Amino acid sequence: MMHGRKRRVLSQAFSDNALKGMEDVMLIHIRRFCAILAGEPAGEGGKYKNNFAVQNLAEWFGYLTYDVMGELCFGKSFDMLIDSARRRMVHLVDRAAYRHYVCGLWTPLDRWHLDQILIRTLTNDRWNFIMKSRVEASERAKERTQAGHDAKRDFFYFLLNAKDPETGKGLTTPELWGEANVLMIAGSDTTSTSLAATIFYLVRNTGAMANLMKEVRGNFSNVDEIVSGTRLNDLIYLKSCIDEAMRLAPAVPGAIPREVMEGGVEVDGVFLPEGTDCGTPAFSIHRHPDYYRDPLSYIPERWIQGATCQTAVGSWKSTKDTVEAARRAFCPFSIGPRGCIGKSMALMELRLTIARMMFLFDIQFADGTGEDEEGHFAMVDHFVVAKNGPNVTIRKRAVR
Ligand code: HEM
Repeated sequence: MMHGRKRRVLSQAFSDNALKGMEDVMLIHIRRFCAILAGEPAGEGGKYKNNFAVQNLAEWFGYLTYDVMGELCFGKSFDMLIDSARRRMVHLVDRAAYRHYVCGLWTPLDRWHLDQILIRTLTNDRWNFIMKSRVEASERAKERTQAGHDAKRDFFYFLLNAKDPETGKGLTTPELWGEANVLMIAGSDTTSTSLAATIFYLVRNTGAMANLMKEVRGNFSNVDEIVSGTRLNDLIYLKSCIDEAMRLAPAVPGAIPREVMEGGVEVDGVFLPEGTDCGTPAFSIHRHPDYYRDPLSYIPERWIQGATCQTAVGSWKSTKDTVEAARRAFCPFSIGPRGCIGKSMALMELRLTIARMMFLFDIQFADGTGEDEEGHFAMVDHFVVAKNGPNVTIRKRAVR
């Protein structure tokens, strides 16, 4: 019931109108991100300059997505893209999510405070994260409350104005920072994993990258035209490249536990009694040969009916049936009443960022960082994903 109420409050923040406002925030940071990768002055007053030969995109995408979410949750960017002193937060968020995952798998760790003995460093890091974000949230709450409830209609606005229909009370300050923190974790790390995975599979599959560049460069003649709307949404190869990366590298890869309700349930011929915790990892579903032909190959064409799917050992044509089966099994955002509420926002950020990168840059895999021993995007499941890379070299596209 509590979940339903919070979800109703938050869903107002994802209306079409609200999404338009989010795009403006995203674009400020995506432009800054692209300028930094291009080695242009991008910081305040144009003083900042960054011109590395090799870029670790897990890091840069992390700074980008945290800056976007910081501004949307707290009304102010963390400025990680332009201020290296502010970047430690990314690491702490990963640690906080990891601790949550470990304690969720064995609840006595939390209940009996065994976490302070058995996973002390992790617990301390999580505490550091809480302290940091509590300060951040209280400051923002103060600023925003003073600015009045009619300030910017971002996530904070909706949280600040949320009322319990029964009691008429708003969220307390601890509840407010709790909710803002959940959003920060849910919205930044997942998006940066999906961005990094997409570029990883593109630099490892240069044929797919060439097709995507052709699609983006053929449909836009100026980078500033790349904004959301039908022109961008109609880029079918772009969407397929992103979906195919999220299939092989889902940003929440592990089993999301659900508890069986009263009366039990039968799953796949097995009876699970009431109270059983169960779940299936998206990672396993997404690589199952019943749903995906050549499941370990990166083939964006599998999402496009009638397209030829090329693998190392031959080719096949995707049909209405193969596309439908693939769609039905695809669940990077989970499904049902607890499925991702931020899906449209995430897809907007993914499309804008990847399309702008394809328009502006020529990108190459640099030194193998970001790849696991099986040739896939290297991820460690911490509920969200710990990742490093891909390392790439980026050059501004040669304009003829
Ligand atoms: C590619 C990016 C993203 C992926 C792959 C993703 C994935 C997911 C998944 C799998 C869940 C279900 C978790 C569970 O059941 O425990 C979830 C829930 C959620 N996501 Fe996302 N997410 C993404 C981006 C975002 C963004 C950008 C936001 C917000 C700004 C967001 C906000 C949320 C929230 C609030 C929930 C909890 C929903 C609820 O419990 O009702 N996510 N997401």
